[in-house]
Amino acid sequence: MCGIVGYIGKQKDIRIGLEALRRLEYRGYDSAGMAVYNADAKTIHSLKAVGRVVNLEQRLKEVSFEGSPFLFYTRWATHGGVTEENCHPHSDCKNSVWVVHNGIIENYRELKEKLQQEGHAFHSETDTEVIPHLIERFFEGNLEEAVRKMLGLIRGSFALGIISKDDPEKLVVVRNSAPLLIGVGENEYLVASDPSAIVSQTKKVMYLEDGEMASLTPERCLIEDINHHAVRKAIHEIDWSVEDAQKGGYSHFMLKEIMEQPESITNALRGRVLPDTGEARFGGLSVVRERLRSIKRISITACGTAYYAGLVGRYMLEEYTGLPCEADVASEFRYRRPIVKDDTAFLFISQSGETADTLAALREVKKKGGLTLGIINVTGSSVARETDAGIYNHAGPEIGVASTKAFTSQLTILALLTLLLGRQREMSLADGQVVTRELQRIPDLVKQILEQREKIKEIAEKYKHAENFLFIGRKYNYPVALEGALKLKEISYIHAEGYGAGEMKHGPIALIDEQFPTIALCPQDSVYEKMVSNIQEIKARKGPVIAITNEGNGGMKEIADDVIFVPRTIEMLNPILMVIPLQLFAYFIGVARGYDVDKPRNLAKSVTVE
Ligand code: G6P
Repeated sequence: MCGIVGYIGKQKDIRIGLEALRRLEYRGYDSAGMAVYNADAKTIHSLKAVGRVVNLEQRLKEVSFEGSPFLFYTRWATHGGVTEENCHPHSDCKNSVWVVHNGIIENYRELKEKLQQEGHAFHSETDTEVIPHLIERFFEGNLEEAVRKMLGLIRGSFALGIISKDDPEKLVVVRNSAPLLIGVGENEYLVASDPSAIVSQTKKVMYLEDGEMASLTPERCLIEDINHHAVRKAIHEIDWSVEDAQKGGYSHFMLKEIMEQPESITNALRGRVLPDTGEARFGGLSVVRERLRSIKRISITACGTAYYAGLVGRYMLEEYTGLPCEADVASEFRYRRPIVKDDTAFLFISQSGETADTLAALREVKKKGGLTLGIINVTGSSVARETDAGIYNHAGPEIGVASTKAFTSQLTILALLTLLLGRQREMSLADGQVVTRELQRIPDLVKQILEQREKIKEIAEKYKHAENFLFIGRKYNYPVALEGALKLKEISYIHAEGYGAGEMKHGPIALIDEQFPTIALCPQDSVYEKMVSNIQEIKARKGPVIAITNEGNGGMKEIADDVIFVPRTIEMLNPILMVIPLQLFAYFIGVARGYDVDKPRNLAKSVTVE
């Protein structure tokens, strides 16, 4: 977590850094800080503020800082409370070296003790502060050399931005297991955790790899690897604009992203559906297409919402490909003893492509020689670069912390992948054609659900004071129940549990009373009758029920207290439709309760630490 920004070049206006930082606020927002080198005063000025970036902005209005290079930082606390002292940039004893850091230094305690014994004075509780002190210890006039020596001592994950008033013409950056990229301008370089931060300044970027360090001056960029060999980097062109990452008239990114789903699903489908032959194709998988014919098992790994997409994918893949499929959360997978065999395809799903646990799980599989595939939204991200082959979502930037359009895009791609693998096996032409035909209708069906948003808002108003919620579903909609509960707790801080409806009698039904509403996902699919029985059981205990079912199923009004109708489609695609009312419901309750739904407390968009 945490967002970092750096700049070196001809411009002296620190608002460039502030603007970039605002776009990184989703990575953490409990405090923000900056440091800038002023050539006239030959010193580095620094300022920090607890709270959002806007607080730092206010404080910067009281001073007239300018210069280059500079660093900006937005924090998501890992070590030490939310205070100005703990906020980055951190400096050494002489206030010469200033550092911003995203990640965790695992061996900081022993380093700190040693440095303290040597007389270094520390001012924060952070792991990061050892870095400027180590650089101070090694500094002999050349910043990169001191940084290199410091790197020999620290262990952990880090993206670093470093400047020094004693070697002021440089910005040194390092990457190891935390995202970092360099934007290339004219006689200037920008550095950021994510391309959305700098896209308004430049669309040309270079992605650093783990173990790489770059030394930047306005005129040149020298990159070297862990063995100090020079590295030549390709320059990538960002293919989306700053407008894509802005709110576009909506009050929140979350609502904008919910409303964008017809388009993001269309983008996931574009060029990939072959309706005549009932197949799917992915350019990104062409290198492994033949190898996929012989796989016997699929293993899916992801975190959070992406993991729930993986759970839905498991139902799709098992039903249509006949291949056994498992889905695991990455933080568990990486610490188990994963069985990696040649006949298995390991699929990693991640919106950001930077989630630390997903990346670590991927690396573990690669170490053992497994075939790795990815479904990733952020192009050029770590998971995208490190998998053997992959599929991009093309969903555009997702800024709201709670994932919405990435989820439905992941489901769409999983359905396409099911087609690809299914048609290589027993899936019939007729079944393939049905799935392709239905997939092409999905964007329109989603649009129809979005048109009901005022009605969903009314239902949200009615239930906004509830303190607990149960979400139930079966088969394909069991993971959707988990996702619905996750959305509600993330955004509205209401306690919510997602359950497979069949498990209700094994515990959660004990909670049901007049104050404990349930959202029941019950499209008229192969488990519909079972769902109706579960709803009856809840009603018999006076629990309020909001049912989501298919249009034309008027009978549901007799059973449930409130009903939301969604259009019909085939069973495997129902989750894409069923989740839309749940996203809107969570959004409207969060807003009605007065919360900042784009930046829920304690959460961050991209979890780049364990
Ligand atoms: C965080 C986000 C979730 C997201 C999860 C996995 O928890 O708040 O919205 O689902 O990380 O992120 P990824 O980028 O790997 O999909």
